[in-house]
Amino acid sequence: MKLGFIGTGALTSAIVTGLKSVPDNSVSVLLSPRNEEIAANLASRYPDVRVATDNQAVLDNCDTVMLAVRPQIARDVLSKLRFRPDHHVVSLIATMSREEITALIAPVAQVTKALPMPMIAHRQGATIIYPPDPRAASLFGILAKVIEVEEPSEFDALSVVTATFATYFKYLDTIHAWLTDRGVADSSARDYVVTLYKALANAPETAPDAGFMHLAEEYATRGGINEQILRELIARDVFDIFAESLDGVHRRITVRD
Ligand SMILES: NC(=O)c1ccc[n+]([C@@H]2O[C@H](COP(=O)([O-])OP(=O)(O)OC[C@H]3O[C@@H](n4cnc5c(N)ncnc54)[C@H](OP(=O)(O)O)[C@@H]3O)[C@@H](O)[C@H]2O)c1
Repeated sequence: MKLGFIGTGALTSAIVTGLKSVPDNSVSVLLSPRNEEIAANLASRYPDVRVATDNQAVLDNCDTVMLAVRPQIARDVLSKLRFRPDHHVVSLIATMSREEITALIAPVAQVTKALPMPMIAHRQGATIIYPPDPRAASLFGILAKVIEVEEPSEFDALSVVTATFATYFKYLDTIHAWLTDRGVADSSARDYVVTLYKALANAPETAPDAGFMHLAEEYATRGGINEQILRELIARDVFDIFAESLDGVHRRITVRD
């Protein structure tokens, strides 16, 4: 496979790093020349990663092309390029619909949206793909879990999950800061929080039939300390407010101009 990237930034770097960490991968990669530093760095690290002279050269020399520029410049960049009907295009541009992309890159027939995350560099996380696309699924499947969806509404809703990462770390930071305020050594506090939450993250996989609330109830012994915190946060509408924020992000990514 000849895989090209239009836009060589953080996400492209993560995908290429992940792909090239797979032993015996046969994907040859052609990068667009911007960002110059990131492209040069990737090309210097891997023998079959090259930098094209310009964006058009990426299209002219590749069969599969990933679009990885920021949405603000996508229209301008893509409308200047000549795509072929047989190009297989995977758009990583999170906030542009498949219809918008398809209109910009005519006459391409095979247009897929994919949402990998930067942790793909370490072959972790999951990539959402819409619509189901065996070629894109097998490419991203080399790197991490793939979740293919039939409806754009499912893609959009799943995308909202990626807006919760910072909140997760703030949650851990709140526990960590509380511990250090009470004189626990920074490293012990961090070690304890990281180790316990790593174990908790495994719980849904070890009990695949259990819903998340079932797992919550397993820890929330009646009258116990887990039940206390859960009850207090529910009473203060913390989770309702959180769900409202999910709604807000969903509105933001689905109301497109
Ligand atoms: N990062 C994420 O976590 C993530 C996750 C999911 C989806 N996405 C999507 O992936 C896309 C890329 O995100 P990113 O985080 O990789 O952004 P980024 O780091 O800003 O990378 C975009 C790159 O595009 C380059 N560029 C600018 N003008 C260009 C042109 N005319 N032709 C070709 N390349 C050009 C920029 O180069 P210069 O530096 O030289 O300007 C920049 O390095 C976005 O649409 C975003 O929605 C990102």
